[in-house]
Amino acid sequence: MQHIELTCSFSVLSWGELPGDAQQVIEAAKEATFRAYAPYSGFSVGAAVLLEGDTIVTGNNQENAAFPSGLCAERTALFSANALYPHTPVKIIAIAAQQEGKFLLDPIAPCGACRQVMVECEQRFGKEIEIYLYGTEKIYYLKGIRNLLPLCFERVH
Ligand code: THU
Repeated sequence: MQHIELTCSFSVLSWGELPGDAQQVIEAAKEATFRAYAPYSGFSVGAAVLLEGDTIVTGNNQENAAFPSGLCAERTALFSANALYPHTPVKIIAIAAQQEGKFLLDPIAPCGACRQVMVECEQRFGKEIEIYLYGTEKIYYLKGIRNLLPLCFERVH
């Protein structure tokens, strides 16, 4: 029998430790939370995607009375970016969330479905995505979606 261990790792950063482009993308994700449509959960999530060439595309959660018809902020942003710029790799995605008018102290991590979409996005462009998860007290930085979704389903060649 063979035993395999997969390791996930991430860094915990303060605002001052962030590179300039990360600060810009996080600010865009924070702004996007204000445009979320979240009348059912009251939980407003914003995501911002920085593309190669430095275009930023944002998204937010879009809820629906028929719950499964809604979409998370991360997929809204990534699908928008890919729909508008189908040949431009994604460099960074930042995610922020607010509840009752306040940004969360601790970061939230994307749901499983959004992680799977990030995997596809890395694969289609052949480039690792850098992920910043924003909280007012700390920010998580992950280099590559494998740190969020090890042993994931991948396209079979
Ligand atoms: N949500 C996101 O947009 N992204 C996440 O990473 C987690 C959850 C949304 C879905 C739903 O509109 C609300 O947050 C509550 O779950």
